[in-house]
Amino acid sequence: MTDGPFNTPILGGKIQAEKFDNHISRALSSMKGQYHDQHAYDAMLAKADTLLYEVYEVCRPEKEGELMSGISIVHPGKVGNEYFMTKGHFHEVLDTAEIYMCLSGKGVMVMETPEGEWSVKDLTPGVSLYVPPRWAHRSVNTGDGEDLVTYFIYPANAGHDYGTIETQGFRKLVVDRGNGTEIIDNPKWVQV
Ligand code: F6R
Ligand code: ZN
Repeated sequence: MTDGPFNTPILGGKIQAEKFDNHISRALSSMKGQYHDQHAYDAMLAKADTLLYEVYEVCRPEKEGELMSGISIVHPGKVGNEYFMTKGHFHEVLDTAEIYMCLSGKGVMVMETPEGEWSVKDLTPGVSLYVPPRWAHRSVNTGDGEDLVTYFIYPANAGHDYGTIETQGFRKLVVDRGNGTEIIDNPKWVQV
C-alpha cells in the first residue's frame, strides 16, 4: 500500500490482478441457504462447486476518510431459475453509502433497508448507481452468457455485515421462470 497518489487500470481488457491488493473468489458452497430452490442448489453443488463471482479490491486502511474500491465480476448462470448473484450485505457502519458503476454486462442491484423499503435498479454499462446509507445491496447477473462487471467505491471504515442477510435473506428475488427477468417475493424471507 502506497502513501501517495496512485493509479489503477480498470478499463481496457483483462483485469490486471497484480495491480489489486486482494482477489476474492466465491463459489456455490459459500451461498448455502441463499437460493430459494434448495433442491436445484444441492443438485448443482453435487456436480461442482461452481465459481459464482470474483472481487478485486484496492485496499486502504479501514479508517474514516479513506475509500475502498475495486471490481466485482458476477459470472453468468442460474441456480434453478434464480440468477447468479453476490451474497449481499449491509455495511456494518450502517450510515455509509456506496457507488457502483457498471462497466459491462447486464444486471440489477437488489437493495433494502432494515425498515422494509426495497428497490431494484438496473446495472447497465456506463450508468452509475448510488446505494444510500442503510441500504443492503446484492448484485445479480441477469445477462445471457456474459459477466456482469462493476466498479465500486465505498468508505474504508464501512465494514460488512453478512450475517443479517445470511439469516433473513433479501425480501426480493430475481428469477427467470421462462418469461424473462422477474422480481418476486422471497418465500423464505424472515424478519430477524
Ligand atoms: C463492498 C461492496 C462490493 C461487494 C462485492 C461482492 O461494500 O459492496 O465490493 O463486496 O460486490 O459482494 P459481497 O460482498 O456481498 O459478497
Ligand atoms: Zn457494500
